[in-house]
Amino acid sequence: MKLAILSNGPGNYSTKRLVEEARKRGHDVEVIKYKDCYLALDDKHPDVYYKGEKLPKFDAILPRISNNMTKYGCAVVRQFEMQGVYTSAHAVAITRARDKLRAAQILAKYDVDTPKTFVSRNTSDIDHLLDQMGLPVIIKLATGTHGNGVILADTRKAAKSALQAFYLYNEDGTNILLQEFIKESAGTDIRAFVVGNRVVASMQRASLDDDFRSNLHQGGLGVPIKLTDEEKKTAVKAARAMGLHICGVDLMRSERGPLVLEVNASPGFGIEKVTGKDVASKIIEYIEHNAPRHAGKDKIGA
Ligand SMILES: Nc1ncnc2c1ncn2[C@@H]1O[C@H](COP(=O)(O)OP(=O)(O)O)[C@@H](O)[C@H]1O
Ligand SMILES: [Mg+2]
Repeated sequence: MKLAILSNGPGNYSTKRLVEEARKRGHDVEVIKYKDCYLALDDKHPDVYYKGEKLPKFDAILPRISNNMTKYGCAVVRQFEMQGVYTSAHAVAITRARDKLRAAQILAKYDVDTPKTFVSRNTSDIDHLLDQMGLPVIIKLATGTHGNGVILADTRKAAKSALQAFYLYNEDGTNILLQEFIKESAGTDIRAFVVGNRVVASMQRASLDDDFRSNLHQGGLGVPIKLTDEEKKTAVKAARAMGLHICGVDLMRSERGPLVLEVNASPGFGIEKVTGKDVASKIIEYIEHNAPRHAGKDKIGA
């Protein structure tokens, strides 16, 4: 199989592992820095150029689009989709996952349990919303990542002033989510790595200080954890709802069962080091199995 990994970081652990496993399994693999690609849209053939050359037709692409280049990265993925190339993640699914509001709407529609979430732009709604949510309350920017853009407000006053500031200085920008604080697992969450219909690795992340955020980027620490069947089912259901076959689902354990926090379209591979599981080869196997089934199918519409 002729495989392109779309990654701006050829030296990243995740990219290196994917290349290594793909080569081990006999594939012809190339890492393409999508930020250096340009797209030609002026004839019947939607081509991708890289380093001044037209890229050949790949059997499959594996997008690893970073959060800070979602729009351009997804445009490149879409161009390959227009060529009829199999992709392990569709551009539309990546885009949806990057917007916490859009993701929350999709998860709600597909009956995936999440913390209770409200979205509003009116300061006059705040009291009413806080009545339903209780305190402390979580305030989230819809496009935040790595724990940046998630705030814990302990008091009504703190929540109100934070929201007012966001509403005022963010008029056309990011949406703001108000979310129930899951106190039962404060400072911890679970990352379930889903490939196809299975959780292939799982870890618990815990903050090492009194931070309520467990992101590894905020100094959290990962340890392997065994998931219950319900947790596994929830993770796979969330992945399906988002249309992401390879993803990292973040869960919190709560009194009413597992709740999905978010679904990551390009999950990190630190989980391999924490759990000792070979995630990269599971991903390559999945693509090996699914790309040929896609071959010859109609080109996907925009
Ligand atoms: N509703 C919540 N209740 C308790 N803790 C939360 C809640 N939402 C987020 N957190 C904590 O904050 C971290 C970051 O939140 P998350 O929604 O995953 O945003 P990010 O995309 O920045 O990682 C989570 O990993 C979790 O530890
Ligand atoms: Mg997160």
